[in-house]
Amino acid sequence: MNLLNKKLGSLSGGRILDVATGDGSFIRKLIDAFDDYDNAVGIDIDDKHFNEAHKDFEEDRVTFAIMDGVHLSFDDDSFDTVAMRAGLHHLPDIKSVLCEMKRVLKPGGFFIIREMTCDYQNKKQLSDVQMHHWSARINRIEGISHNSTLSRQEIIDLVDGLGLGEYETGKYTCNDCDPEKDGKMERELADIDKELAKVEGHPDYDKLQKEGDQIRQYILKHGFACASSMDIVGNK
Ligand SMILES: C[S@@+](CC[C@H](N)C(=O)[O-])C[C@H]1O[C@@H](n2cnc3c(N)ncnc32)[C@H](O)[C@@H]1O
Repeated sequence: MNLLNKKLGSLSGGRILDVATGDGSFIRKLIDAFDDYDNAVGIDIDDKHFNEAHKDFEEDRVTFAIMDGVHLSFDDDSFDTVAMRAGLHHLPDIKSVLCEMKRVLKPGGFFIIREMTCDYQNKKQLSDVQMHHWSARINRIEGISHNSTLSRQEIIDLVDGLGLGEYETGKYTCNDCDPEKDGKMERELADIDKELAKVEGHPDYDKLQKEGDQIRQYILKHGFACASSMDIVGNK
């Protein structure tokens, strides 16, 4: 059982905030992990996935808003749960966003992070890490904020810097699919060319193409699995 289900299964999430929510799919995971909840808000600096999010949540008690995590427009101590999945490595100013998340969390409330790490991965999972870091570089050329994933220790240091009361860590590996059987690996391989096409003509194109070829060879040799993440569940 993963840490979220273990720690939250018999509790209420109360009023939940999901930062850098994207299509809101982590809100669904949180709602499923808690025994119940009152309402949930997903915020993101970009609303491009909000249509999918609205389709997934017909219930009125889940809402979405465009907002920068650095300036959350919520009162101090106004949420029972604050959470973020796969957001840390997208933020130009991680510390400010984490401080904002802590500010809006009620004393005793749940502080939850799920973030892919660059370390503690097996050979197949390293295929995912390498693809992720390579495509993040292409995103940066496109002007999208996307850095390499952090190490487990870097994430711990960031959370320690927040001065939460107590927190627990766990390793999360998604078993929703088998990338080698359901075609995800083939899609990842095809994505190498699709990603490269975005930066055709850029001075780094040749270098990125060479590295893309090396990643393709690595995936073909070692296979592909989704990288594991680190879970953090703490209290303010
Ligand atoms: C990899 S997606 C994660 C989406 C979602 N949490 C999930 O797990 O499916 C990273 C998200 O961070 C958002 N983001 C980047 N910078 C942000 C900021 N300063 N404030 C809020 N969201 C931000 C992006 O728009 C993107 O939707």
